[in-house]
Amino acid sequence: MLDFNFKNPTNILFGKGKIATIKECIPSESRVLVLYGGGSVKKNGTLDEVFAALHGYTLFEFSGIEPNPSYETLMKAVELVHKESIDFLLAVGGGSVIDGTKFIAAAALFEGEPWSILEKGGTPVKKALPMGTVLTLPATGSEMNCGSVITRKSLQAKLAFMSPHVFPLFSVLDPEKTYTLPLRQISNGVVDAFVHVVEQYLTYPVNAKIQDRFAEGLLLTLIEEGPKALENPKDYEVRSNLMWASTLALNGLIGAGVPQDWATHMIGHELTAMHGLDHAQTLAVILPNLLEVCRQGKREKLIQYAERIWGFNEGDNDQRIDAAIDQTRKFFERMQIKTRLSDYGIGTDSIPDLEEKLKAHGMIRLGERQEITLDVSRKILELSL
Ligand code: NZQ
Ligand code: ZN
Repeated sequence: MLDFNFKNPTNILFGKGKIATIKECIPSESRVLVLYGGGSVKKNGTLDEVFAALHGYTLFEFSGIEPNPSYETLMKAVELVHKESIDFLLAVGGGSVIDGTKFIAAAALFEGEPWSILEKGGTPVKKALPMGTVLTLPATGSEMNCGSVITRKSLQAKLAFMSPHVFPLFSVLDPEKTYTLPLRQISNGVVDAFVHVVEQYLTYPVNAKIQDRFAEGLLLTLIEEGPKALENPKDYEVRSNLMWASTLALNGLIGAGVPQDWATHMIGHELTAMHGLDHAQTLAVILPNLLEVCRQGKREKLIQYAERIWGFNEGDNDQRIDAAIDQTRKFFERMQIKTRLSDYGIGTDSIPDLEEKLKAHGMIRLGERQEITLDVSRKILELSL
């Protein structure tokens, strides 16, 4: 029997022009720090809209949060928060700016060295500054969840933390704000969201019909709309469907009460930390091979996936599983993401170092049954070459 709690406090403001309404969500006396990345939101006018909407507040600005946000950069923002007694954070950007802002929100009120928030066995977050987001890149779901992934460049470590204290209080999802995304980021977003769904769906059956069918609806939508966004980037309806799909892919709804397997993400984080691949590129490389290596444990769900997502309703089960894994890879390639380590110049010689990093970060029993040991991860990496 399913037994779970589901809590998600993020208020979603979805649609054209919604930035103008954020005043309703931020107390008027707040000292607000607006955080963004390398400047895309400046160029496309989103930042001007945000500042116009915040007229009358005491405002501060912090720019330069990089993709795969770094502890080194974020700690500079923490200094600014302390110096200016900032009490509200507003992230304007993609998953990196949002994740970075979550870390700043927690680090600013943390007693001790904030890196320990991310370390295995580290201190849990007990409080954080309130924050909101204006999303410009649908992908991570960070706008409606309490997770954050931070890189410490000096240690080549990319680690995650979760805390209910860093749920955004509100997130603006205006699909028009995604029109300026480079094709590579559209692709990244679709593949990231797709893999989030798969990691909460492709495990073993627990008769969670709602979670399964919601997950299948999200996968079918991503498969249908993803390629359209590449062909016709200014189609509002396509962008809306993708934006809502990627938020729902990782806001806790489809994962509530069901087994989950985040091994693709954990192995992927090591690839980004060591070789600098985009987050979604790592997932496109690892997932098809993980499904292959773990096909026995995932057999029943793989058959369901083959039937309901790819329409393989007849024939030998093993052939249907083969075909479903093949279609998964082909979908990533249709989204213009390469699916082999060798496509990114990574060879066999990197595998021992990656294994070392997995071990150092405690990633030694991954998967829905904790059966993805270092040996299994090595097999997955070898198959990914
Ligand atoms: O920095 P700027 O100039 O803003 O440019 C960004 C960046 O270069 C650009 N961009 C964003 N919106 C744009 C735009 N360019 C033009 N027009 C727009 N509207 O896109 C580039 C990539 O941005 P980034 O935020 O890094 O991408 P994404 O949203 O894919 O975030 C990836 C990060 O999120 C983490 C990943 O590990 C990675 O660090 N994840 C966070 C999760 C979470 N919090 O739940 C879960 C995910 O699995 C993931 O691990
Ligand atoms: Zn992801």
